[in-house]
Amino acid sequence: MKDIAGKTAFITGGGSGIGLAMARALAREGARVVIADIDEGRLQAGANALAADGAEALAIRLDVTDPASWVAAKVATDAFGPVGILCSNAGVGGGSGAFESYDPAVWRWNYAVNADAHLHACRTFLGDMKARGEPAHLVITASMVAIVPPPISAAYISSKYAALGIAMALRNELAGSNVGISVLCPGMAATAIVETTRALRPVDPEVGDAATTSQAMQAVLAGGMSPGPIGEHVVRAIRADAFFIFTHPEWKPLVEAQYADLLAAFGASADPAYAGDDIGAVAAANRRPR
Ligand SMILES: NC(=O)c1ccc[n+]([C@@H]2O[C@H](COP(=O)([O-])OP(=O)(O)OC[C@H]3O[C@@H](n4cnc5c(N)ncnc54)[C@H](O)[C@@H]3O)[C@@H](O)[C@H]2O)c1
Repeated sequence: MKDIAGKTAFITGGGSGIGLAMARALAREGARVVIADIDEGRLQAGANALAADGAEALAIRLDVTDPASWVAAKVATDAFGPVGILCSNAGVGGGSGAFESYDPAVWRWNYAVNADAHLHACRTFLGDMKARGEPAHLVITASMVAIVPPPISAAYISSKYAALGIAMALRNELAGSNVGISVLCPGMAATAIVETTRALRPVDPEVGDAATTSQAMQAVLAGGMSPGPIGEHVVRAIRADAFFIFTHPEWKPLVEAQYADLLAAFGASADPAYAGDDIGAVAAANRRPR
């Protein structure tokens, strides 16, 4: 998408961190921005920052896990402008500890915010974006941990793999359409995500090892990249219609090692008599009208 000026951008998790940085960067390019967030205080702070920038902006409360909240958000947004850039970005950390000890409610909440919300976002806005036929763009925030997972929360890693998987599937679905798509995969960013997670997790204050891990992660992320340049990088990627948005090149050697490992695992067919999958037939069987 070349022309960002005048477009309406809708950004979930837009009250803070990377979401607010994307909103500010898009507004600097002349977009009208809607920041949507569950946290009223952050929304207000975000709205103040955008107003100080001179941006044309709307701040609305949205719980990305709640379909009714999306219906209300669409009504408010439609009155502001037709969404041309959709940034499905809200996310939370996943708690910690051994997989078998996870609280199912924390697990489910993590998936609801980090994965399921992309469906709600697209059910709300993508149909209209396609129907208008004008150049439009969707950005899904995954994470570098969805490409090369470090030894952190299984809920966070796997829900971010889901976000990446959704973006990869949509990349096929949207190919050749008026809607471009990017998947944002940042490394460490100095945002409030640990505090967000602590405040919003549905059960159990963090105790014991989980509390220690969370404090340690807060300290590590405090040294991460500032969100501002990440927002600007996203704007460049939207203009360039780049699918993968990588902001932290220091992860590249880990990606190379992981793919080398994966490629080295390929060997002979399990059934030497089998002619091999007809991958083109799979694509043809799934072809659907736009
Ligand atoms: N900070 C990092 O190091 C890092 C790295 C890779 C990816 N990410 C991803 O970037 C995205 C933004 O996170 P951030 O680091 O800017 O953190 P952040 O906590 O500063 O921002 C996330 C925002 O999402 C909002 N939010 C949480 N649950 C919500 C819900 N149910 N409905 C609506 N809003 C909700 C929070 O209130 C918060 O304002 C997330 O998807 C995160 O997983 C962050």
